[in-house]
Amino acid sequence: MRLKILGSAAGGGFPQWNCNYRLSRAVRNGEGGFRRRTQSSLGVSADGKDWILFNASPDIREQIAAALELQPMEEGPLRASPIQAVVLTNADVDHIAGLLSLRERHRFVIYATARVLRVIEENSIFNVLDRQLVERRELLLNVPTPIADWHGKPTSIVVEAFPVPGKIALFLEDAGRAQEGFGTEEGDTVGLRIVQEDCHSSALYIPGCASIDAHLKKKIAAASCLLFDGTVYTDDEMLSAGVGTKTGRRMGHMHIAGSDGSMALLADIAPARRVYVHINNTNPILDERSPEAAVVRAGGWEIGYDGMEIGI
Ligand code: MLT
Ligand code: MN
Repeated sequence: MRLKILGSAAGGGFPQWNCNYRLSRAVRNGEGGFRRRTQSSLGVSADGKDWILFNASPDIREQIAAALELQPMEEGPLRASPIQAVVLTNADVDHIAGLLSLRERHRFVIYATARVLRVIEENSIFNVLDRQLVERRELLLNVPTPIADWHGKPTSIVVEAFPVPGKIALFLEDAGRAQEGFGTEEGDTVGLRIVQEDCHSSALYIPGCASIDAHLKKKIAAASCLLFDGTVYTDDEMLSAGVGTKTGRRMGHMHIAGSDGSMALLADIAPARRVYVHINNTNPILDERSPEAAVVRAGGWEIGYDGMEIGI
């Protein structure tokens, strides 16, 4: 199974269009130790020919342009794409807006939880994806779902969606229900266990996660590869950077550093590879030469980047 990180940044990307914080400025200026990053998405393939996208980022067009394997094959028909399905982990803008760019009459399947499918159902702009051509299939929670193409042909990739602590999409928050997670319900944010049929190794894709409990830790311990929420290094980093008023926790993202951060909480278990993804433009690990990036690497973590490939 091949995994390819198509976009390693959180919503906004890196640099973010309107951001003048030192990190966005540094990457915009081409300073050493910085890479440009597009918004959150992953590609997975069992055979290198058929591809499944995990989340459809607003940068999808650029991501396809950067990945030969996602482009129409030379010998293919006049309209063709290796993309057979899109699996969604939530309904955030950075994970669903790219669906609108896939509207050119290509047959594929959207897999998502009932909660996320409802968001797409209720936003009529997604009707640009002709229902005759783009099928919507439900991902039941905690049940392995074989991912098949539009014709029903299996891709050999099996996905199990499991709820993780998180939050309803920002644009659906109910301010009157702040005490109840702004209206968040089970299925609004999921992690995904991704396996190839008949293989033992598995990858966990969890780009948004507000906390790690014993149950999730056990799941992570059993995986061969973990792609995990690396949105913020410290919970209050957007405030101390002066670019925002929200903590990581308020956005449904746990932080990396400190005794209650993801590094410390997962320090005693060791999936073969652990990679931070969905990295916000305020996170100091975006500077490869920063002390924070060094701490992360010393802890056995890799810092995801666009185009990073993982074979498992
Ligand atoms: C998030 O990950 O918190 C969201 O992508 C925020 C957003 O929708 O801008
Ligand atoms: Mn996001």
